[in-house]
Amino acid sequence: MTAPLPSPPVPQRRRSLSGIKSTGSPHLGNYLGMIRPAIQLQETHDPYYFVADYHALTSERDPVAMRRQTYEIAATFLALGLDPARAAFFRQSDVPEVTELSWLLSCVVTMGELERGHAYKAVKDAGEAGRALHGLFAYPVLMAADILAYDSNVVPVGKDQIQHIEMARDMAMRFNFHFGETLVVPEALVREDVMTIPGIDGRKMSKSYDNGIDIFMPTKRLKQRVMQIVTDSTPLEAPKDPETCNVVALYKHFATPEQLADLKAKYRAGNFGYGHAKLALFEALESHLGPARERYDQLMADLPQLEDILQTGARKARAVAREVVGRARERCGYPRYPVETW
Ligand code: TRP
Repeated sequence: MTAPLPSPPVPQRRRSLSGIKSTGSPHLGNYLGMIRPAIQLQETHDPYYFVADYHALTSERDPVAMRRQTYEIAATFLALGLDPARAAFFRQSDVPEVTELSWLLSCVVTMGELERGHAYKAVKDAGEAGRALHGLFAYPVLMAADILAYDSNVVPVGKDQIQHIEMARDMAMRFNFHFGETLVVPEALVREDVMTIPGIDGRKMSKSYDNGIDIFMPTKRLKQRVMQIVTDSTPLEAPKDPETCNVVALYKHFATPEQLADLKAKYRAGNFGYGHAKLALFEALESHLGPARERYDQLMADLPQLEDILQTGARKARAVAREVVGRARERCGYPRYPVETW
């Protein structure tokens, strides 16, 4: 017998919700674009964050890696300051009501709308549509269910996810149109200042380009990686433009305003090489992320404790999802769930 679910909390604040797919180590682009803003929102919002392990199944077929990567993402959030006492922090797959809502949404969204989804469209444009998994095609539906199952108000995401949030909004409005006001229409929250984080080759930092700097790279690797950042060939003595430099583009997110002003002045004065700038970046990263890396290692050394945190989060999240998905079921003509049981 499982214990009864807690009653869904009455939110005093607007709810922020976001998820991150558990494939591979998260990099600084993920940190600045989503993880850091999401964690900051815990001060002002009712935070619901989860590891999108069901979404990971579109590309991860190794169950051992699936489990490990889920813990890695969870430990990353906690090490960087997410407070599990304030947030509901959980695994997507621990809340089965979400997959149920995803079916209800499948019945209000059209193939045409999903064909515009950029993940599927990329495969289709490469002439491989027939080989695309249904899970990839339906990715935006599951993502909409993730958001709508918790009456989320704001969704902090990186720029690449804006289209998915738009689709979630459309599905919520369509559902409400057919069945009456049921689902909360969410808003994307995209930080303008972190829209484009360059990777070490100057292109957008992305797993698929292999140009990322992982958040918790060991110190030595971190330094090597920073030293590999591509810069132009302006000679050491010459003044340099800080506004077009990949090193500064990263540095500005980790330095204090004084440190940043100081570095920019040195660029403009000349006799300051990119090697010096990279060293400054490395030091800023190390002092920002070093202590978190230690917490990360401690968290990863106690997986049962990590599991416990996720289970506590899942109970909180599930109480809300039962309420919201129960409401949606009822609107479609199915019985609402009895609230007091799993
Ligand atoms: N698609 C997101 C990513 O690739 C992860 C995700 C899944 C998500 N469900 C979500 C993000 C709901 C925000 C809200 O990282």
